[in-house]
Amino acid sequence: MKTEDEGSSNSSMNREIGDVIATRFSRRSMLSGGLGAAALVTVGGAGMGSLAGCAPEIVPPDATPLLGFESVPAGSADVVVVADGYVAEVLIPWGTPLLSTGPAWKKDGSNTAAEQAQQIGYNHDGMHFFPTGTGAAASRKGLLVLNHEYTDATQIYPAAPAPITFDQVQKALAGHGVSVVQIELIANKWRRTDSPLNRRVTGTTPVTFSGPVGPAHPALQSNNAPMGTLNNCAHGSTPWNTYLACEENWNGYFGTDAAGWAPTADQARYGVAKASSYGWHTADPRFDVAVNPKELNRFGWVVEIDPFDPASVPVKRTALGRVKHEGATFAETDGVAVIYSGDDEAGDYIYKFVGNAPWADLRAAAKSPLDEGSLYVAKFNDDGSGSWLPLIAGEGALTVANGWVDQADICLRTRKAADAQGATKMDRPEWIAVHPITGAVYCTLTNGSSGINAVNPRKPNPYGSIINWTETGGDHRSLTFDWEIFALAGDPAYPAISAPGNIVGDIYGSPDGILVDPDGRLFIETDISNSAQLLASRGYDNIGNNQLLIADTTTGETRRFLVGPRGCELTGAVLTPDQQTLFVNIQHPGEATAALGAPTNANPRAVSNWPDYDPAGRPRPATLAIRKIGGGKVGS
Ligand code: FEO
Ligand code: CA
Ligand code: CA
Repeated sequence: MKTEDEGSSNSSMNREIGDVIATRFSRRSMLSGGLGAAALVTVGGAGMGSLAGCAPEIVPPDATPLLGFESVPAGSADVVVVADGYVAEVLIPWGTPLLSTGPAWKKDGSNTAAEQAQQIGYNHDGMHFFPTGTGAAASRKGLLVLNHEYTDATQIYPAAPAPITFDQVQKALAGHGVSVVQIELIANKWRRTDSPLNRRVTGTTPVTFSGPVGPAHPALQSNNAPMGTLNNCAHGSTPWNTYLACEENWNGYFGTDAAGWAPTADQARYGVAKASSYGWHTADPRFDVAVNPKELNRFGWVVEIDPFDPASVPVKRTALGRVKHEGATFAETDGVAVIYSGDDEAGDYIYKFVGNAPWADLRAAAKSPLDEGSLYVAKFNDDGSGSWLPLIAGEGALTVANGWVDQADICLRTRKAADAQGATKMDRPEWIAVHPITGAVYCTLTNGSSGINAVNPRKPNPYGSIINWTETGGDHRSLTFDWEIFALAGDPAYPAISAPGNIVGDIYGSPDGILVDPDGRLFIETDISNSAQLLASRGYDNIGNNQLLIADTTTGETRRFLVGPRGCELTGAVLTPDQQTLFVNIQHPGEATAALGAPTNANPRAVSNWPDYDPAGRPRPATLAIRKIGGGKVGS
């Protein structure tokens, strides 16, 4: 996401998570004179006890420390800096042809929409690695599937749109979506290789709908064929080898110049407005909300893509609800699929979908495990407990008498349904990851502002936090859980900006992407807003460019592993099965950054020229393949 906070569209009276946390801490009488850093350190993980009064767990002297690298200092240079002993190689930068016979990337931004649709898209984000070999080969060859969240008009066109044309909109649409590309480790170097599976899903690829809001549902636009996925931020993957692309800030693509048009209350709850920063509606009526208002209802979903069938049509799985899905994280208990998803906006919620039968049984019966189940939203109680509130027709406030027609209605207006059931407002829930050993579920709350979004437990909360919860009985289907805080991010040098955080080790702010590896290392990727990055006035000068850190989930110890180039965010971390390659995305290098300047079409290199450093080129979002020199698990 490119902005730190679009403000909240949640005007419900539901309690904010910061209020809840503040109450929880005070009830446990652990605060004597403020939020003492040591007092707030959690030991993380399931069954590790409560947050109250915990000191960091001491690692026995004979235990092998999880973190085996030296910290990288914070930095603001236009380079990738990775820990000593590691190499970080650039893979599939924006514009790389999917096939060796495909159209070459043009460094002046002049590739057409048709060419862009045969190349890697823009702004790499959530990502998964699907091995195609077995045994050791599983970590040397596979399909990399990645989202392309949004495009930057100062980078993808040779000249500034004035005004934007239909063809320019089509190029932007071709830069969005998902890439499926085969990669192989050949002669100790990862490279893209040709495969019939290599393909793009873009903003114009035919799609279909399944679940309560089927393809013929009257709420969906019917005068054009359903197509496209947009603003695919984080993601998910399933054990039946599909990829879940999530539609986050889809509202921003729509607008209108129609006099007198105003959003309905349901539209406003999703931030739909007359103005659109993209301006696509001026050239493509598909995005004019006054002309095609039901096109809006085609977005805000989790989209299932089968990367192993290039002819498969992406399916929008409507049972998972319609919000600004950051990601869709899979877990299972007794073979039943559970999907966790954050709705990344100030004051919005955390959801989970629970299947109604083992996913293998459903698939054997030709049913989708993502169509058959129930949706819930999280409520965090003051005492460290929590519950999942049903978003099910007829339950609680979701009755016909209250205006809830049926389950499809709930899936279309999921935010309002969650409001009605009393969900807990969160500080922008971003990625969710499940700890493979403990089963604890980690979620980044990236930051909050505007006075609507409560602090966690700080107000304001410019640095964000990482929370975790453990489902009752370790069962992901449970409707109750216990929660705690893993880390409050921040810089203790700025007490006037935020109450101190409790990071044990290297400081950071605005956590976004996370991953827990099989040994319990928590990979943390930051997305500090470009309006705050590097600025002392925002408390972010000591933290530097966006970065990737690795934390030990048992001790909380956190070390900075990698610092990105200027203007970027770090995202998309995924490991090979042997944990010896970390793939991570450098998204929006060179984007307008308050501390560094703003690119223009005439000078796209004003902030960054990574990774090519071509004096006539431009910055390019790209994947990094990171390996330990001589071999070994990343982070060990
Ligand atoms: Fe696209 Fe919430 O970051
Ligand atoms: Ca973000
Ligand atoms: Ca994100």
